[in-house]
Amino acid sequence: MVVENKPSDDDIQEQRRNCLCKLTKFAAAAGVTAAVWPLISSLGPDETARGENEPIDVSLAGVAAGQTVRRLWQGKLILIHHRTPEEIAAARTGAHSALIDPQSDSERVTPDHPQWLVVQGYCPHAGCVPNARPGGQGWVCPCHGSEFDTSGRVTRGPATANLAVPEYAFHPDGLTVRIGAKDA
Ligand code: FES
Repeated sequence: MVVENKPSDDDIQEQRRNCLCKLTKFAAAAGVTAAVWPLISSLGPDETARGENEPIDVSLAGVAAGQTVRRLWQGKLILIHHRTPEEIAAARTGAHSALIDPQSDSERVTPDHPQWLVVQGYCPHAGCVPNARPGGQGWVCPCHGSEFDTSGRVTRGPATANLAVPEYAFHPDGLTVRIGAKDA
């Protein structure tokens, strides 16, 4: 004769906990995938990249003022931001000598294309990716609150350095930028 052991209330509770735990992990993984995909899909290397250490050409045609293009170059996130006239004016107002990491706006952009700010997308404090502040007010780091102006210069710590500017140059068409080279 086979005797079936009837599960106790404790056993049933334990099974429910295990099941809930598995469901929660699955939902979390699905949520992370859904949240990360749009970002990853916009980070693909530009189609004109020739090799991992080679410069990349990024077309900026159709990128409206206020928009930011994200590209990966040598495994680093590069932000190419099309500044509005107001953002440019804000970057040029006030004495840059009083900043934490003094640098003029003209030292950080090319003279012929001051509307384009090209920076690495990492906070110099500990490497977090800064978020754009609403209304073209620069960037803020989500990790410890460092703030950066419309020239990518740090205006509030704990970061002590500006967003790094990579080597870049514009093609003669003015609408294609080469990241990782001094000329194009
Ligand atoms: Fe940006 Fe710390 S990593 S403030």
